[in-house]
Amino acid sequence: MNDLIQQTAKYLVAARHVVALTGAGISVESGIPPFRGEGGLWEKYDPMEFAHINSFMKNPEKVWKIFMGDMKKVLLAAKPNDAHLGLARLEQLGILKTVITQNVDGLHQMAGNTDVIEFHGNFAWLRCLQCDKRFKTVEVDLSEAPPKCTCGGIFRPECVFFGEMIPPIALTRSQEESSQCDVMLVVGTSALVQPAAFMPVLAQQSGATVIEINPEPTPLTGRISKFLVAGKAGQIMNEILSEVNSLIQSQKQ
Ligand code: APR
Repeated sequence: MNDLIQQTAKYLVAARHVVALTGAGISVESGIPPFRGEGGLWEKYDPMEFAHINSFMKNPEKVWKIFMGDMKKVLLAAKPNDAHLGLARLEQLGILKTVITQNVDGLHQMAGNTDVIEFHGNFAWLRCLQCDKRFKTVEVDLSEAPPKCTCGGIFRPECVFFGEMIPPIALTRSQEESSQCDVMLVVGTSALVQPAAFMPVLAQQSGATVIEINPEPTPLTGRISKFLVAGKAGQIMNEILSEVNSLIQSQKQ
């Protein structure tokens, strides 16, 4: 394992342009459950019933009451963990340029990353289905389900539901960053949901080295990624950062 940590640090320090693609796994250590696998949300909720735009539009009350009811507490209380803080530190060191995240929790920005592409939108903003006004989620009374706008319209979160398009700017920028990077860190994603899961493929096809951090292998492992550093993102990122720091120190000498 330590050899893979050292190799990762070497790639990062030698890199010209590093991009990270992250998924729900990076926020598990912040108390937010993943979608798939053990304890995953989709084990408890049918995603087509609770996370598809048609089911939301058909019955926003049900989705707000049941699904959002559970999620809002977790999302609004979550704090960045060592993995988020590690990526922010890599940006401060001038190594990491951009984070492409599938997460809607805003934890990368909270940790200090300044260029975060929210591929699946975010939960930090609500939009009125009637008057299209936007409000910060924290400024809206979420005790009512569905929460209502001052115009009486129902709010929807600015997350991307199944059945919806990826925000065009997020998609274009992610494709650009993926094809320009020379190292891509893929952290905490099952790499099952398109088009996000195509970004590491685009990076590898453009000549980049793709490195995964995940306790489990994914469809990228052994095919697209050069190697998988198997373990929890928080712990792994701490080890990588200390290797990066000692490499940078030794280069100064
Ligand atoms: N550190 C790193 N990775 C972890 C950790 C951890 N502590 N815990 C779990 N994982 C890994 C799991 O092994 C799994 O591969 O994180 C991954 C989580 O996968 P998913 O739950 O499928 O999440 P994600 O890949 O982000 O899902 C993609 O699907 O449901 C939609 O819109 C939703 O953005 C989401 C998209």
